[in-house]
Amino acid sequence: HEIHHYSEVDSTNNVAKELAEKGSPEGTIITAESQRSGKGRRGKKWISPHGGVWMTIILRPDIPTSQAPLLTLLTGVAVAETLKRECNLDVGIKWPNDILIGDKKVCGILTEASASKRGLDYVVVGIGIDLNVNVDDFPPELREGATSLQRELEKEISGVKLVQNFLLNFENFYNDFKNGQFQHILNQWRRLSTTIGSTVEVQKRGRTVRGEAVGITKEGVLILEMPDGSLRKIISGECTHFK
Ligand code: BTN
Repeated sequence: HEIHHYSEVDSTNNVAKELAEKGSPEGTIITAESQRSGKGRRGKKWISPHGGVWMTIILRPDIPTSQAPLLTLLTGVAVAETLKRECNLDVGIKWPNDILIGDKKVCGILTEASASKRGLDYVVVGIGIDLNVNVDDFPPELREGATSLQRELEKEISGVKLVQNFLLNFENFYNDFKNGQFQHILNQWRRLSTTIGSTVEVQKRGRTVRGEAVGITKEGVLILEMPDGSLRKIISGECTHFK
């Protein structure tokens, strides 16, 4: 695989999209030591100092555009499995794609797809892991909800080894996915999910829905049971857990 490593970029997702437009093949990987304007979901900034893993993978899967969100779930499972195995950490996934240790976020995933009427052209999957970063340097509003591997393990850990293991796990899950074995990935996701079984509030465009998260569909859509017993499907939004 081609690996493009930079000391600093604006955003590895943006570099990946430029390379994909120029024809870079599936499996091309972009990593950076820091990002000037790292991007989070919903137009948020992603703080990306030295010491973190900031990485994007270019994919060209032959799937309907509607299945692109599954790549985010797959990536979340691959990160969670890697952290469990390599760092012996008890990690959970908060729908759709936050990797948590306890109730603090250690990794976020941002998937961006380019599609035309012929279907999906390419997908870039961006992964940000707070490895050896000091969350005390984060802005106050982010500090509370964030942690890093260094903080959890009380030591610095090797980013190279972590990335290598992640890529091996990712490749296995992605091959399963391309072979149509998505059920297995969804089962893993359900097992790792801290959302299923929790009372959650999902916010989207200023509206809030509160209910009990009871499941996820095979498209990655969250199913909430409302107080009146009815079921409601949530495609996307900002999710908060309650006890
Ligand atoms: C989120 O949880 O809001 C998603 C965060 C995604 C961050 C990663 S870091 C590498 C890649 N490049 C970016 O600009 N964002 C993603």
